Amino acid sequence: MRFSVPHPIPYQGSKRRLASAILSHIPENRYTRLVEPFAGSSAVTLAAASRNMFASYVINDALEPLIELWNKVIQDPTEVAINYSTLWHREREKPIEAYYEIRSEFNVDRSPAKLLYLLARCVKNAVRFNPAGEFNQSPDKRRKGTRPQLMELELVAAHQVLAGKSQAVYGDFLPLFLSAQEGDFFYLDPPYQGTSEGRDQRYVAGVSRERVIEALEILNEKRIPFILSYDGFCGERNYGAPLPKTMAQQILLDVGRSSQATLNGRGDVTIESLYISHTIPVIPQPSATTLSLNDFEKQTTLFTFT
Ligand SMILES: C[S@@+](CC[C@H](N)C(=O)[O-])C[C@H]1O[C@@H](n2cnc3c(N)ncnc32)[C@H](O)[C@@H]1O
Repeated sequence: MRFSVPHPIPYQGSKRRLASAILSHIPENRYTRLVEPFAGSSAVTLAAASRNMFASYVINDALEPLIELWNKVIQDPTEVAINYSTLWHREREKPIEAYYEIRSEFNVDRSPAKLLYLLARCVKNAVRFNPAGEFNQSPDKRRKGTRPQLMELELVAAHQVLAGKSQAVYGDFLPLFLSAQEGDFFYLDPPYQGTSEGRDQRYVAGVSRERVIEALEILNEKRIPFILSYDGFCGERNYGAPLPKTMAQQILLDVGRSSQATLNGRGDVTIESLYISHTIPVIPQPSATTLSLNDFEKQTTLFTFT
């Protein structure tokens, strides 16, 4: 059965395309609450809520205005929809110039509607922050960003699937792990190892591999099941070292050609790792897009590890 899943917040790294494949690994009717500590655009939560898979949902992120935005979506998205429309039309009067004005204003007032506008209008829908925590991504000069009418429909549809059963929390991920309880299922999508440490400061905060391992140990000790999206690779680029096998079972998802590879005229396929906790069985997948590690190892001639 196909589900129509709202996705109001454009966000680079969104798991929108992979959400169905990820959810297909969660046994049905076994868990009551889905917890997504690195929510971003909350693609997996939205997909799960659209299918009514859990009784309640918790989304968390270290980017405060993003969580404020989610709270508005959950409670009443009308004001955000109106403000988004005003910002979008403001730029029609002064193309690009208004983008920079709104960006400067956001860096002072941290308005959630301005964040939504900036995400919809910036290059690759990708948040970027300077060391002072200011949003510094440039505008996309070829696209205008989601039209206000469509944005309103998306916001209202997201409200309808989340209202009354969802909570949005601002902060670091660790407290959620410490308060995890029976009936919880965790979906984790921390910043890639290669994009949050060292030079490329993509998100407002980064997460070291050690902290991810520490958090998973907490879940394993409490026997709380989880799925983690972590190291992936595209062509010759590898996005990080695999996690120890004792922590979780690894399966590989063929995500298809990355948009960047397509732009560069390359045929590289992106493979993403999913780590599934040992507390749940790996459900055999009919889908041809899911490869087991053994299948993958047989095909290493197709891919180059770095
Ligand atoms: C890869 S993105 C998640 C994308 C998400 N799965 C989606 O579908 O859009 C990682 C998210 O983790 C957040 N983040 C970074 N450091 C964090 C931390 N220490 N605690 C909680 N969230 C954090 C970032 O702000 C970002 O939104």
